[in-house]
Amino acid sequence: MSIQQDNRFQAIISHAKEYGFVFPSSEIYDGLSAVYDYGPYGSELKKNIRDHWWKSMTQLHENIVGIDAAIFMHPTTWKASGHVDNFSDPMIDNRDSNKRYRVDHLLEAKADELKEKGQVKEADELLLSMDTLLAAEDFEGLKNLITEQKITCSVSGTTNWTDIRQFNLMFSTQLGSVAEEADTIYLRPETAQGIFVNFLNVQKTARMKVPFGIAQTGKAFRNEIVARQFIFRMREFEQMEMQFFVRPGTEGEWYRYWKEARLQWHLALGIPADKYRYHDHVKLAHYAKEACDIEYEFPIGFKEVEGIHSRSDFDLTQHQQYSKKKLQYFDTEINQNYVPYVIETSIGLDRMFLLVLSHAYEEETLTKEDGSSDSRVVMRIPAKLAPIKLAVLPLTKKDGLPEIARELINSCKPHFKCFFEEKDTIGKRYRRQDAIGTPFCVTIDHQTKEDGTVTIRHRDTMVQERIKMDEIKNLVLAQM
Ligand code: GAP
Repeated sequence: MSIQQDNRFQAIISHAKEYGFVFPSSEIYDGLSAVYDYGPYGSELKKNIRDHWWKSMTQLHENIVGIDAAIFMHPTTWKASGHVDNFSDPMIDNRDSNKRYRVDHLLEAKADELKEKGQVKEADELLLSMDTLLAAEDFEGLKNLITEQKITCSVSGTTNWTDIRQFNLMFSTQLGSVAEEADTIYLRPETAQGIFVNFLNVQKTARMKVPFGIAQTGKAFRNEIVARQFIFRMREFEQMEMQFFVRPGTEGEWYRYWKEARLQWHLALGIPADKYRYHDHVKLAHYAKEACDIEYEFPIGFKEVEGIHSRSDFDLTQHQQYSKKKLQYFDTEINQNYVPYVIETSIGLDRMFLLVLSHAYEEETLTKEDGSSDSRVVMRIPAKLAPIKLAVLPLTKKDGLPEIARELINSCKPHFKCFFEEKDTIGKRYRRQDAIGTPFCVTIDHQTKEDGTVTIRHRDTMVQERIKMDEIKNLVLAQM
């Protein structure tokens, strides 16, 4: 990461804290590594992203329904899904600092360093070798690569590495009190399994016909080893996943469909296409037949925000085998029973939140009419996701102006989130709204009392126009 990129990332983290988006968890006790809390504006933004995803999946697709499964699941779920045996990352320890690293992260960081020095070809070759060795689970080869590249530990500065070993990422806990018959259960590492085990319940009760999808949002937990990238990699995070069940043999075309559809969902938010790219996987997860990531150019470089996976009939077949219950679908069009194939779209809600912050954050220098300069921090959050849609600002605290402002808020607040503020100069109030990403500010002044018009100020252009107060609600709604 260049100094410029690092500064931008740090500026976003500070801004997120200062303006009530994201706080370190239990901060008064010095925080908890890789765990974060969302503040007043953060929780609104997060909810708006979740709602937008949910609507685009379940409301705009007649053949997708939602569920809300429990975080705790029967322990056999994770045996069947392969997570007990396979959900691990190759790790390496530095003997001098006792610091543990994910092998792919060490090598990716080295590739970034090479790229910064202009050695793009060498960086690409390194990543290709890494992908090939990871796919072959060739740990000796990976260690040789780390040695050849003279990669050092960031704490000790030495190359005194242990052998590479696999570490499972699931958190476990006990169900029931110690006195009762205790059983080890896991905090779910993905929401997807709650969908698979409910496949027949949903298909039958919602009378779904293949192809159809089941969507779910919710918390997932992973004992991540590398945890120093703000909300990019957390130990407790939220996923928005959709499993799309298809007839065997059609999975290729549905995989391509969802790969394209999901990228379009991102672009429809107005985020530029050149900030995105696909990364097709060479090393596939234990369940995957084909897989790709949608990557976004975060201030820490191009990184995965969403995965599209062709999971074959792996999960349903495994659950069928372990539960000894049939998980099949009778396709009346072809008169056949089969275990459907699955295309999964899986996006991290917190990662999407960081994407929105990264896209939105801008430090802008403004030239005033008299030639002097000023600056502002503006969060160009897409209007439909913004925590507050409309700020209503009476010019003064008297002459009945606050009462008119309240009238406007009362007519708008059943439809979208509004904010009232009467303290400080209008300029200062505009700046505070820019900093939390409010797309529209309305000023109520003495002319409002005479002709019912107000000044509306647009966040991105700072253009102000005079319009009738009773047009405000529809103007804001048109952006949502
Ligand atoms: N069900 C498939 C699955 O879980 P994944 O690629 O491991 O696939 C999907 O995760 C998405 O979840 C990722 O693209 C990312 O956005 C998010 N995610 C995964 N681990 C995360 C973590 N530790 N912190 C924040 N988000 C994470």
